Amino acid sequence: MVAVVNRRSPRRCATIVGVKAAVYDTFRGPITIADVPDPTPAPGELVVEVLAVGLCRSDYHGWHGTDPDIVCPHVGGHEFVGRVVAAGEGVARFREGDRVVAPFVCGCGQCEPCLLGQHQVCRNQQQPGFTRWGAFAQYTTVPFADTNAVAVPAEVTDEAAALVGCRVSTAYRGVVERGRLAAGEVLCVHGCGGVGLAAVAFGRAIGAQVVAVDLSPDALALAKAVGADIVFDATGVDDVPAAIFDLVGGAHVSVDCLGHAVTASNSILSLRALGRHVQIGLFPTRTADLPISRVIRDELEVLGVHGLSASRFEQVFALMADGRLDPSAMVTQRLALADIPQALPAMGGFAQPGVSVVTTM
Ligand SMILES: NC(=O)c1ccc[n+]([C@@H]2O[C@H](COP(=O)([O-])OP(=O)(O)OC[C@H]3O[C@@H](n4cnc5c(N)ncnc54)[C@H](O)[C@@H]3O)[C@@H](O)[C@H]2O)c1
Ligand SMILES: [Zn+2]
Ligand SMILES: [Zn+2]
Repeated sequence: MVAVVNRRSPRRCATIVGVKAAVYDTFRGPITIADVPDPTPAPGELVVEVLAVGLCRSDYHGWHGTDPDIVCPHVGGHEFVGRVVAAGEGVARFREGDRVVAPFVCGCGQCEPCLLGQHQVCRNQQQPGFTRWGAFAQYTTVPFADTNAVAVPAEVTDEAAALVGCRVSTAYRGVVERGRLAAGEVLCVHGCGGVGLAAVAFGRAIGAQVVAVDLSPDALALAKAVGADIVFDATGVDDVPAAIFDLVGGAHVSVDCLGHAVTASNSILSLRALGRHVQIGLFPTRTADLPISRVIRDELEVLGVHGLSASRFEQVFALMADGRLDPSAMVTQRLALADIPQALPAMGGFAQPGVSVVTTM
């Protein structure tokens, strides 16, 4: 997660005594549940009691050491919902007791991209869980709160709200805004974990034909449950794009929801002429070997995604309110804070399909 600002010291809050957090001192090293300093909000910030926090693969990448923004010791966790316990000087829109989410990219609200409503590419962005300590803790902070905190509708559960903070809103940005998917088009989703299942659900909500690709039969069963029309197990398949052409004649929009040379390439090669490839999965490397000749020949679009501005979370909640999207349907594992030291490193094995959410802090 590329960011410009790196301000990450926790701050003290007089009203909170004793904060437990999942901390690592070295990349790929042990994670321990430790007492950390209690936070106090800086001007413009909120301190929230964490109610639920998802385990996103970006947290795994962070622990693994592939995110240049993270400095150890570190507390990850960027996909959360919390209840406001303190508001810093100047915060006008929120008060104690409000239940809020925030995007993992918190924009400053002042720079050129922010003034254009594109806070996800803010020049002064801060990212709880990456550039500063995050929500694998009983309390965390929301920077530039009036710009980034979003009140959660009362009917949305804590676990569903938490997932809107990253993977559900990122999938919305990828499929709806960047991919410009239209009803009747074909969407292909490569990798059906948290962000991929949300992409499938948005494809279904839009009225597209959705093809879901994964190596895990359990992940594909979940994809079917959240709305995939066709599921395709790529295990042992040499030419996945050829199979997608055989099945549906190629995709109008295709999304890499893993972040790997194979899935990114498959996604591009699955497209029909003039198609849109959306890269959501993060790469551990700065450059990637992609089928660029095909991009030229078929005039394909290659589009990046870096979360969703808080200014558009309302649209995501609206789709949830009219029943077209249910993030809880993706949840397969509910954990406690004390489980993070084991559960985060275990993500390397891809053994747990669906989404894991910490609901007991
Ligand atoms: N760009 C952004 O703003 C953004 C936001 C959120 C997550 N991400 C990134 O998106 C990626 C996915 O995150 P997640 O939390 O949904 O991950 P996840 O672990 O929940 O899902 C990954 C899925 O990929 C499947 N998979 C593995 N190898 C495959 C292959 N060869 N072909 C097809 N499927 C395969 C796995 O079985 C799993 O279902 C990560 O790289 C994460 O860092 C990026
Ligand atoms: Zn994430
Ligand atoms: Zn900004």
